[in-house]
Amino acid sequence: MRLVDKGVNTLAYGGQLVADHPGLTDASYRARRAALSDLAAAYRRGDPVPAAPYAGEEHDLWRTCSKELAERHERLACDEYRRGVEALQLPGDHVPQLTEVSALLAPITGFRYEPVPGLGDGWFMSTQYIRHHSVPYYTPEPDVIHEVIGHANQLASPRFAGLYRKVGDAVRRVRSDQAVQFLSRVFWFTMEFGVVHEDGTLRAYGAGILSSFGELEAFRGADVRPFDIAAMGAQPYDITRYQPVLFAADSVDDLVATMTEFLDSYDDDAYARYARKVA
Ligand SMILES: [Fe+2]
Repeated sequence: MRLVDKGVNTLAYGGQLVADHPGLTDASYRARRAALSDLAAAYRRGDPVPAAPYAGEEHDLWRTCSKELAERHERLACDEYRRGVEALQLPGDHVPQLTEVSALLAPITGFRYEPVPGLGDGWFMSTQYIRHHSVPYYTPEPDVIHEVIGHANQLASPRFAGLYRKVGDAVRRVRSDQAVQFLSRVFWFTMEFGVVHEDGTLRAYGAGILSSFGELEAFRGADVRPFDIAAMGAQPYDITRYQPVLFAADSVDDLVATMTEFLDSYDDDAYARYARKVA
């Protein structure tokens, strides 16, 4: 998921592949991507969530990625996320449809998945396409493995789910583009790429790290800075490379307390105060 998705169009739904995309020359993959893009574009809240057409090799791909990521999570994911994994019990043998993810998640924290980009009140809006099976450990864009293994396991933690709700509330409160951008950067460096000190080591809670083989192996080598809302909101990021700078919370308790205070009081005036701090 991207918090801020401006210019929603077929590109945003993943309907067109860029020139170096690994699926570009696979006609049936392109057809499935186009079909998913059309489903997402036609979707309106309240409609039945449409089922995505996945091929056999895509279920195999999910099986491989689920297993490989789960092994790394044992070592590198924070306890709170792993409790979410335990509670959610995602299937390991097939790509779950978004309705299946919602059926597992809603009884735990009330969140449901729907097939358009963004974040709404109690709704997590997700892409449905999956990376190309020729490159199981690489995706040039966030796919259903990121959205579900990364984010749904987070959303199965009541504490993390509470933060997502507060992010949604804060997005609706702010008016200026700069205040939205500040919030989206804080989101990026927490729910997407957040790390936390735990048991004398550094572990990940961010969905972007926890759904990426490369980032899982690399994040401990980043420039890891102390948790600081003003610094995160001012830090630019590049989605196309491993994150060179990360911000580490002292504990999940600290993270939740600091983010709750920030999100509950965040508005355009608060943004101005944070911006002055780092100016
Ligand atoms: Fe995401």
